[in-house]
Amino acid sequence: PEPGWSVDTEVVVVGSGIAGLVTALAVAERLPGAGRVLLVTKALLEAGSTRWAQGGIAAALAPGDSPEQHLADTLTAGVGLCDETAVRALVTEGPDAVRRLIDRGACFDREDDGTLALTREGGHRRRRIAHAGGDATGAEISRALLAARKQAGIEAIEHALVLDLLRDETGRAAGVTLHVMGEGRRDGVGAVRARAVVLATGGLGQVFSATTNPEVSTGDGVALALRAGAAVTDLEFVQFHPTVLWLGPDAGGQQPLISEAVRGEGAHLIDARGERFMLGRHELAELAPRDVVAKGIMSRMRELGTSHVFLDGRHLGAATWERRFPTILATCRDHGIDPVTEPIPVVPAAHYASGGVRTDAWGRTSVPGLYACGEVACTGVHGANRLASNSLLEGLVFGERIAAAIAGDLDAAPPAGRIGGADEPGGLLDPQVRGRVQRVMTAHVGVLRNAEGLRAAERELAALGERTSREPCLEAWEATNVHTVATAITAAARRRTETRGSHWREDHPDRDDAAWLGHLVTRSVGGRL
Ligand code: SIN
Repeated sequence: PEPGWSVDTEVVVVGSGIAGLVTALAVAERLPGAGRVLLVTKALLEAGSTRWAQGGIAAALAPGDSPEQHLADTLTAGVGLCDETAVRALVTEGPDAVRRLIDRGACFDREDDGTLALTREGGHRRRRIAHAGGDATGAEISRALLAARKQAGIEAIEHALVLDLLRDETGRAAGVTLHVMGEGRRDGVGAVRARAVVLATGGLGQVFSATTNPEVSTGDGVALALRAGAAVTDLEFVQFHPTVLWLGPDAGGQQPLISEAVRGEGAHLIDARGERFMLGRHELAELAPRDVVAKGIMSRMRELGTSHVFLDGRHLGAATWERRFPTILATCRDHGIDPVTEPIPVVPAAHYASGGVRTDAWGRTSVPGLYACGEVACTGVHGANRLASNSLLEGLVFGERIAAAIAGDLDAAPPAGRIGGADEPGGLLDPQVRGRVQRVMTAHVGVLRNAEGLRAAERELAALGERTSREPCLEAWEATNVHTVATAITAAARRRTETRGSHWREDHPDRDDAAWLGHLVTRSVGGRL
């Protein structure tokens, strides 16, 4: 569709989670002056995944810990596919990035002596997870960064779904088109023209029926990047969080997360017989990397023919529950379960995309002028399985890096050329397609995958791709994005004929370093993936 209005700025940041907000703040510091950075976001500023983050933010902040140890744990969790240069940047710049976040106003929990309180999560061999409000870390970070944005005078457009990338005649990113709802004169389809575009659109959990991600996480940034011809990588590595509250066999949409920090503080996984089934499966038992725990849970459910397992934290006692996990305690009680007196029924659910839009160590994608930060990006820090609580840290560290890169790149870039049209999809899909895609993905491309199921998913997704929409509404864009991303994930999952990290092929149960110690890159060529 032709844009009905336009805005000019220098840098447009798409997304208002930790990655988008830190990037926008850091760009504003490096490019002072009114109106040089504009933030656009799909719903309300605080609607994305960041505010749902519970466990915390990982960094080597404790005496005796070191970036080298954090590096080692991250590489182990990533099962051979991390980019060591990117991980080194993450873990060495991480502690200062957390201190800067504190300077920007975020209040973390402290011990009685005033030092930061640190917990453990899966895959971390040390206590290195800083948290806030007990289990409300993301909400505090979101609050602090939104206040900092306001103070810095960075303009934001809410209710603005990003549609596609604009390019100039040289192929450089030149802005984005948006679908805005109810912003007065900026209503309907419009364009933001900019010399640099940062995608910080978050995750894609809504491609599956049950997920920890909020409604807005429909993979919009990955879909846009694919339409723009950018390289996208590691999409098969969708991480399933081991423990969301089990709400029945048909529960769908965003599910209540039971943080790994509950296991970090000593809770155990038990099966329907009351046995601790993670003992003997990994030396770290319940605190093994999350792919190992998710697989352990799925295997035990199969062995016993049950629909869930339990997280037993009764021995933590009421005082610990109330102080450390007030949000989780309240959520469980709202659903009629009291973790102080009974084990919590839990099951894995889609949680995090370890892959995404491929970037270098400074957030640059394969399209000049287009950058990606946070969950939408694949910087190489997560490999085949993200280490718990490294994602908030990634947003912090790479947001600052992208701002530095943009400041240098804009100086060196040629003057903006004539702007061409956007890279639009062939046709938008019927909004009903979204729910059907979710069911296909959960049935065939979830924790357990095999060739037969993946082939069935490909056939069903191809058929759903024929169901076009008569109206170019927001829901049709979201359905189209969910379908595009689902198709790309399924193709990558079918190609990778081994089991590694969070990609578990029942028909190829072993890791195959000889054939698969590499990355699958997805691109769209002539509208086909
Ligand atoms: C959690 O609190 O368990 C989630 C942490 C994460 O996904 O990094």
